[in-house]
Amino acid sequence: MKTREIIDKKKNKEILSREDIAYMVNNYVKGKISDKLMSEFIWLIYNDGFSLKETIYLTDVMINSGEVIDLSKVNKPKVDKHSTGGVGDKVTLIVSAISAAAGVCVPKMSGRGLGLTGGTVDKLESISGYKLSLSKKEFIKMLENIGCAVISQSEKIAVADKKIYALRNEIGAVDSIPLIASSIMSKKIASGSDVIVIDLKVGKGAFMKNIKSATSLAKTMVKIGEAYNKKVVCMLSDMNTPLGLNIGNALEIKEAIDFFNHKYDKRLYDLCVYLSSLMISNAKGISFRKAKTLVVDLIESDLAKYKFYQWIKAQGGDITKIKDKSKKLVVKAKKDGYINSYDALKLSEVVFDLGAGRVKKTDKIDYAVGITLSNSLGTKVKKGDELAVIYYNKLVDGMENKVLDSIKIEPKKKRLKKIIIKVIK
Ligand code: URA
Repeated sequence: MKTREIIDKKKNKEILSREDIAYMVNNYVKGKISDKLMSEFIWLIYNDGFSLKETIYLTDVMINSGEVIDLSKVNKPKVDKHSTGGVGDKVTLIVSAISAAAGVCVPKMSGRGLGLTGGTVDKLESISGYKLSLSKKEFIKMLENIGCAVISQSEKIAVADKKIYALRNEIGAVDSIPLIASSIMSKKIASGSDVIVIDLKVGKGAFMKNIKSATSLAKTMVKIGEAYNKKVVCMLSDMNTPLGLNIGNALEIKEAIDFFNHKYDKRLYDLCVYLSSLMISNAKGISFRKAKTLVVDLIESDLAKYKFYQWIKAQGGDITKIKDKSKKLVVKAKKDGYINSYDALKLSEVVFDLGAGRVKKTDKIDYAVGITLSNSLGTKVKKGDELAVIYYNKLVDGMENKVLDSIKIEPKKKRLKKIIIKVIK
């Protein structure tokens, strides 16, 4: 009866109270409200929106539906990093090590990949021995001794979000600003960091397709952070082309290692330097410029690389044993010209079909498969030059043509779009 009353209240465009929202969310988690009624409620939020106040109430209810991690024992500034999911996004692997090398603590819980975008946890799992679940004591010890730890998302955090996010996925109601903002922020706030830096992807390969909607999502997340006394910084970055030159779990681990060995794609380098500078400057309370100088220094002096190896080893990983057994198919250029774009969405579809992604959380994935792009954007190529390598264990119909279709080669070189769009805080 009360469920129907609240749904009707929303239908009549009245503002819901915290009590109304808590009633819907908590009873849905307990199984007392059906998927059908909850879907009706979610579609109303999706279509008519939620005020900021209601979005904060929803976030609060979801935080309180699970455990809230207390990291007050760790006596260092704590910064969490979140990416809204991009193609070839191996940034967490790189910036966590850089930030930890700078003396900032990075307690990171990451999700598994679902759909076309991979998850950091899957990438780390392609390293033999890497332990994704640590006890609270082990997690805190890693943070105190190493300065960073990346583990899989605790099932106990923001329990309501898990159930509601799964339902949103099923009914196709993911891309709603209040629902995304409350979903992300409930998990981040419950994870216990003081500063939260969000890499908000915009473009073909992301769920925010334009700068306007990404800006609105960023502003909502910053405001939610303010309500909790957390510093939230959102960096909008371009996701029309993949990040770096590798898409696929083991391949992305290798690209992170290459990064620390000073072999990197410029756009990936720029993004990692910018993001880690934001993390360090906001956590330490120093200027962005000072933080950037420190970041470049840590990369050039190999101190960030040593931190990366130290962290992987401390979590049980053997970096010399990466699960990368596959066959190779080289894709060659059919004409001369400049590589003006890579279609992130098309490439991620091929990588998904190769077996690197999953539809359901329980699906098994192939760590070894993926695509390496052989050239950075803007490179001049000749007919017959290598464009990409497909790593596969099962053949996918038309995979070579699909990769060729996603690489635009034109007679004139186009100006590259900047990878960092803007920062909202
Ligand atoms: N990521 C999340 O955690 N939640 C969303 O709603 C969308 C992306």
